[in-house]
Amino acid sequence: MRIINALINLPSSRFKQKIRRIIAPTVAEGWEQYARHYQGKSGRYLGDEWICAEAMGVDVPADQIVLYIDENVIGPFFRTPKVILEIGSGGGRFTEALLPRCNKLLATDTSQAMLKLMRERFAHHPNIEYLLLNGMGLSPIPDKSIDAVFSYDVFVHIQHWDIFNYLSEISRVLVPGGKAIIHHSNTFSDLGWKRFLADVGPSLNRHKLPETFTLMTPEIMKEFTRRLCLILEDSITDVVRRDCISLIRKPNSFTTTSPCCEPCCGMLSRSSPKI
Ligand SMILES: C[S@@+](CC[C@H](N)C(=O)[O-])C[C@H]1O[C@@H](n2cnc3c(N)ncnc32)[C@H](O)[C@@H]1O
Repeated sequence: MRIINALINLPSSRFKQKIRRIIAPTVAEGWEQYARHYQGKSGRYLGDEWICAEAMGVDVPADQIVLYIDENVIGPFFRTPKVILEIGSGGGRFTEALLPRCNKLLATDTSQAMLKLMRERFAHHPNIEYLLLNGMGLSPIPDKSIDAVFSYDVFVHIQHWDIFNYLSEISRVLVPGGKAIIHHSNTFSDLGWKRFLADVGPSLNRHKLPETFTLMTPEIMKEFTRRLCLILEDSITDVVRRDCISLIRKPNSFTTTSPCCEPCCGMLSRSSPKI
């Protein structure tokens, strides 16, 4: 790993890019590298650089994207939950909007470097806790302890097995009636397809690169949630027109007629090391 890091840190940026592509490891490790080498590039905080409103299909100026999503999606669906869990909080772009909505926010990420940036950014906030994930689930978080789960720009990158496992975990940690907002790709939207085509070249004959998008649709999300007895309340495809934002709710109670019953939800997390 030390040799790999030394190669990545070589001065020539073209060579650096090439090496990164050749050795680009898992999605989580790729983002850890991104955070380690982030030096305040174009914006004040990590994440401020993801601003191509046109490519995303957002009808507001780049610096208003978070506010726009907050006003149109987060606020109306979440209202004011007590405890919010954010999966893949990155540099805290959305954390800033989520914090005033709750009493406690649990910011999680697989990247130590991202969490370090978060601690610096939100040093003055007493109601935020941090948790390093291992990418296998949410296992340190107790069952039925979270009112709302939020994740943006994470499920676009992780693979279907991870998406399904996280949904199963979300079902486990949410209180009955708890809600989740999950942003993921919508490959067959006009802009989603453009993004897919752009990912074809760099992805050929290799494992998934950290920054490429997963092939995902509202229909797959509908099927995953159905199989986990979660309720997909809405699939929003007109706020960020390239992608989909799924609004999910955990039922208040599981019935014997549910397609799957409560004990099967969260099963993967408990046995995750054996996967
Ligand atoms: C593109 S960034 C998005 C960050 C933030 N949500 C935002 O919108 O600005 C993706 C984030 O997901 C994290 N990540 C990658 N794989 C993950 C996984 N399996 N579980 C949780 N977080 C993951 C990365 O470390 C990174 O912080």
